[in-house]
Amino acid sequence: YHPFNVNKAGHLEAGGVDVVELAETYGTPLYVYDVSIIRNNCRDFVRTFRELGVRAQVAYASKAFSTVAMLQVVNQEGMSLDVVSQGELYTALQAGFPVSKIHLHGNNKSLEELTMAIEHGIGCIVVDNFYEIELIERILQEKNKTVNVLMRVTPGIESNTHHYIMTGNEDSKFGFNLSNGQADQAFLRLRNNSSIQFKGLHSHIGSQLFETEGLLLAAELLFQKLDHWHIEYGFVPDVLNLGGGFGIRYTAEDEPLSYPSLVRELTSAVKEQAASIGIPTPEIWIEPGRAIAGNAGLTLYTVGSMKEIPGVRSYISVDGGMTDNLRPALYQAVYEGVLANKVSQPDAGSVAVAGKCCESGDMLIWDLPLPEVKPNDILAVFSTGAYGYSMANNYNRFPKPAVVFAENGTAQQVVKRETYHDLVKNDISYE
Ligand code: LLP
Repeated sequence: YHPFNVNKAGHLEAGGVDVVELAETYGTPLYVYDVSIIRNNCRDFVRTFRELGVRAQVAYASKAFSTVAMLQVVNQEGMSLDVVSQGELYTALQAGFPVSKIHLHGNNKSLEELTMAIEHGIGCIVVDNFYEIELIERILQEKNKTVNVLMRVTPGIESNTHHYIMTGNEDSKFGFNLSNGQADQAFLRLRNNSSIQFKGLHSHIGSQLFETEGLLLAAELLFQKLDHWHIEYGFVPDVLNLGGGFGIRYTAEDEPLSYPSLVRELTSAVKEQAASIGIPTPEIWIEPGRAIAGNAGLTLYTVGSMKEIPGVRSYISVDGGMTDNLRPALYQAVYEGVLANKVSQPDAGSVAVAGKCCESGDMLIWDLPLPEVKPNDILAVFSTGAYGYSMANNYNRFPKPAVVFAENGTAQQVVKRETYHDLVKNDISYE
């Protein structure tokens, strides 16, 4: 099911490069991205909007995987960018990302973050709460600047991956509540400030979605509010941002949406709703993160120790784990993989893949059919391109792995492996 080829030697390839050779050259654990998959994912969204002839921005949610090289690639593909912190904004600026196409998110943006964003001329701030409005007002006045703003609202939909529950009063730390007057109050305040260009609404209902139902429902609820503001105050939105969360395939059972069809469906729903309340179709913004980076990346590990518990299971241990992929430990996320150096060999049984951390919960995969495993085999785990490197940590003082980009038969390191010196470089000896 995975998008990677196998070469004549029976080795896995990414971007036309033998990943077993990459493991030899750069060491393991190693994140490897097939850049052409990143580009195709971007194009699925950007091109479809273009073909439909609607105004749109596809903002890559950089929390999924933010490095200078990644942001350069998504910029080349005509994407906009969603950042949620000063660190992500800084990375984007270092990558030369056009600041007018960057959108700033966050439920607790600091004065410093907002100031940096406004001073650099950020494309849009997605305002989350009243305290933030106060900070923005203060900065705009002090600096004599203006800024585009979207309002993040919680439409009262709980997405539960496969089904959606309407909740009267959503219990979420994000955004203004649509139904209890908060959104109206914020609207009036934003509209009253001549330094703020209030552009429209934003909602994000959840992640790893496999259906459009919840997104369409959210759009409907946003339009109800827009209808009210249109009638009451003559407000016509420039932008409607429906967030991200489009699912990817982690295992053979996962059935992700086709992104071009998703774009077509969202677009026709937005057009229809706008027409029904008598306003022009707003510019449509979406924010895919995982759908851009997830299936383009894999992680390579070297197999080390093994342990057989007769009648129970066989463990194989690899040289990484919850430090480079926190998702199994944090969300019981399920992954699949292959022995990259034995892809063509038949499976010999199922193993449990353990990480290297001193923690029983550090298990990458519980049940993975593999050919006969030997120490020094290279295990490739698929679909680790989103929220892998970006959530990597230094637990047990493991240095973060390197990242390699491969495309058209050429590989290039784009993040160096951390060194032990990196691990102690901020430590100060206690005198
Ligand atoms: N926009 C907003 C406002 C978001 O909060 C998120 C994700 C996205 C876009 C992008 O969602 P995506 O398309 O990547 O699903 N660490 C978790 C995912 C947390 C996502 C948080 N917000 C994971 O590893 O699954």
